[in-house]
Amino acid sequence: DEEKLGKVFIGSIDQGTTSTRFIIFDGMGEPVAQHQIEFTQHYPQSGWHEHDPYELVSSVETCIEKATGIFEDMNYDISDIKAIGITNQRETTVVWDTNTGEPLYNAIAWPDTRTKGLVRELKNREGADELLGLTGLPLSTYPASVKLVWLIDHVEEVRKAYEEGRLSFGTVDTWILYNLNGGKERDIHVTDCTNASRTMFMNLHTVQYDDKLLDFFKLDRKKLNLPKIVPSSSPDAFGSLARGILKGVRIAGCLGDQSSALVGQQGFTPGSAKNTYGTGCFLLYNVGEKPVISKHGLLATIAYDFGGKRKPVYALEGSIAVAGSGVKFLMNNMGFITHSHKISDLAASVEDNGGCVFVTAFSGLFAPYWIDDAKGTIFGITQFTEQGHIARATLEATCFQTKAILDAMELDSGHKLNMLAVDGGMSNSNLCMQTQANIIGIPVDRPAMRETTALGAAIAAGFAVDVWKEFDELKEINQKDRMVFEPNVSQEEGAKMFKKWDRAVQMCRGWLD
Ligand code: G3P
Repeated sequence: DEEKLGKVFIGSIDQGTTSTRFIIFDGMGEPVAQHQIEFTQHYPQSGWHEHDPYELVSSVETCIEKATGIFEDMNYDISDIKAIGITNQRETTVVWDTNTGEPLYNAIAWPDTRTKGLVRELKNREGADELLGLTGLPLSTYPASVKLVWLIDHVEEVRKAYEEGRLSFGTVDTWILYNLNGGKERDIHVTDCTNASRTMFMNLHTVQYDDKLLDFFKLDRKKLNLPKIVPSSSPDAFGSLARGILKGVRIAGCLGDQSSALVGQQGFTPGSAKNTYGTGCFLLYNVGEKPVISKHGLLATIAYDFGGKRKPVYALEGSIAVAGSGVKFLMNNMGFITHSHKISDLAASVEDNGGCVFVTAFSGLFAPYWIDDAKGTIFGITQFTEQGHIARATLEATCFQTKAILDAMELDSGHKLNMLAVDGGMSNSNLCMQTQANIIGIPVDRPAMRETTALGAAIAAGFAVDVWKEFDELKEINQKDRMVFEPNVSQEEGAKMFKKWDRAVQMCRGWLD
């Protein structure tokens, strides 16, 4: 079997917030060839964050060409690539003209807070208190719904297309699938249910669009071309590549990136969890086949749906808006470092945070706080403060929010986690992961291969084309050389640090624009 699995390959597109990758995995979950591209972040105003929809597509196509080229150079055969999976940054919203396939505005990226005023208004609208129960999502600037409403309200061309019934809406999965399939000509307009569960248009219980939700946002379904919701693993729902080196290869898996990382970490049993430190940081906790609506500031979402006889599986999620983007901020805006991976050395150049706490609230604060008027704030600066202290405080900010999320999760689920599986760029920092273990007081478990997000989409695609049939067949994948960080400070010390953070968060409220 091992020999057979070493000869089948699955490609995985990982279209994240700051970079795009294409990784080709073999049947044992080992990456054999890959390519990664960072693309342009547009910040036209404070709090605004956009992507060029065409750049997203071209970055995907370039990564596919380059990684497949490497694969061929290694003397592998393209015809052994059985399928492609796609995973993507979630909530980011794209609108295009149904007739021409042309985007009508830049993609509004998920951390964008231009909808702050709109969200305040919506919170007072009749029916607002039902949203959480129906969608699992608190009303905030985060989901796609408010971004779409903003676009219709503020961009003349979008409004006109909507009025004339030619407005297509999609999250990044939908937009990429539409384009890879050849756009208008093939007319594949679908989304998988994990992505759809981030729009606020989908009823989490029925896994279908709900008119009550569309009515709440005053959207007329007849005027809006919404993507069809399908399971995350399917042999025929997502089409196939229309051009390029992998022309004709089937796309068979599609998942939002955080769901994909849970699959990649094999969080298939209720009670398993993972925390991914990417641009943002997202903790997903598998709750099984029934959604659990949070009472403590978390989100309920679809974890994955492998289709067929299998039912959708749900997760509780703690979303942190800023993780790697905090490191990028220190690099690009403050000039502290020349490369992201140098953050760990800078943080290690000092003994501790020197009394600094950095509430990295660039997009307000997400889970479990939901403070939309918070702004990034550094507390505790004196003449003693060095770059290293601020670097340390930046890493700690994500660790503190993870702790707050775990506390909320314990209250919602009645279950205390005894180990936290981690992945994503910032998890490369041993210092950060040790700090994380110290703050949460449980071990942190890191795999050697940390491209778990891409791996998840490859798994979803592989299931659709029968590379694997049961989750059990995956259990050997990525188990070797995991590293466990045990807490090495007393609980009191961890608690003392957290108390300071908590106070800093409270002081961030009500920042005046
Ligand atoms: O919800 C946003 C999330 O999907 C983005 O993930 O890894 O790009 O921070 P990432």
